Amino acid sequence: MSTPDPGNDRPLVVVTGASSGIGAASARALAADGWHPVLGARRLERLEQLADEIGATALELDVTRADSVAAFAAAVRELVGPTRPLRGLVNNAGGAQGTETVAEADEEKWRWMWESNVLGTMRVTKALLPLLLDSGDGHIVTITSIAALEVYDGGSGYTSAKHAEGALHRTLRGELLGQPVRLTEIAPGAVETEFSLVRFGGDETRAAKVYEGLEPLVAEDVAEVVAFAMNRPSHVNLDTIVLKPRAQATGMRFHREGSQG
Ligand SMILES: NC(=O)c1ccc[n+]([C@@H]2O[C@H](COP(=O)([O-])OP(=O)(O)OC[C@H]3O[C@@H](n4cnc5c(N)ncnc54)[C@H](OP(=O)(O)O)[C@@H]3O)[C@@H](O)[C@H]2O)c1
Repeated sequence: MSTPDPGNDRPLVVVTGASSGIGAASARALAADGWHPVLGARRLERLEQLADEIGATALELDVTRADSVAAFAAAVRELVGPTRPLRGLVNNAGGAQGTETVAEADEEKWRWMWESNVLGTMRVTKALLPLLLDSGDGHIVTITSIAALEVYDGGSGYTSAKHAEGALHRTLRGELLGQPVRLTEIAPGAVETEFSLVRFGGDETRAAKVYEGLEPLVAEDVAEVVAFAMNRPSHVNLDTIVLKPRAQATGMRFHREGSQG
């Protein structure tokens, strides 16, 4: 664990899944904007490297395990002080596994997707909500996906998990109305990260095909939106933001160079 500068009084923001892709880029963007990110993921070594680079705190976190989330929340509580409230949470940890049809559904992959995207987001949010409310000006950003808004063939495990994660996040908007916390759902289309590599079990050729012939979003494109939403004045709540590459119309419909799509 990297320890923060004790004199540091920047507001804290927890970013889950900060060891890669959108989470790492969001932590970078938020640090540059004066936040102190608390980075959570399973690959601690990667988090520590990033924490050293941007001035953040790295803590091991597996959102699929209740004991890991409890230990993480306890460590975050220790970091909070009168001049250093927990003002932000970016629920980003998650991902997809496989593209099987419902007829061929793989229960283990479904369980992984539901545990990491849905139950993980619920666990971390529940554990950190009291600290966010105590800050007097909290903000929860959840990275869902356009898969939270539409379905596609072969995507049911992921789209159902992202729909559920979106439902959980949007429910909070009503349940917490009148309390000092904002809620922003960010729903990206195709972003070139380790996402497809994870989805296809490490198959680099298959992962690269997803982005062939088009310019996908990069993690920094999403991170800029995260930071923009979080840096609005307290009375401004950006509810839902959808961003896609220009070459993407829907979850599965792309324009690729050399194709009519
Ligand atoms: N890339 C896209 O096209 C795209 C589009 C829309 C939405 N999204 C969503 O954006 C989020 C970030 O994905 P990404 O594209 O940045 O993919 P990525 O590069 O694979 O990053 C995923 C992050 O989630 C973390 N993670 C996975 N399981 C975890 C667990 N059990 N506990 C804690 N952390 C866990 C990973 O860290 P460790 O492995 O170190 O734990 C990693 O830091 C995901 O929720 C994904 O569904 C991605």
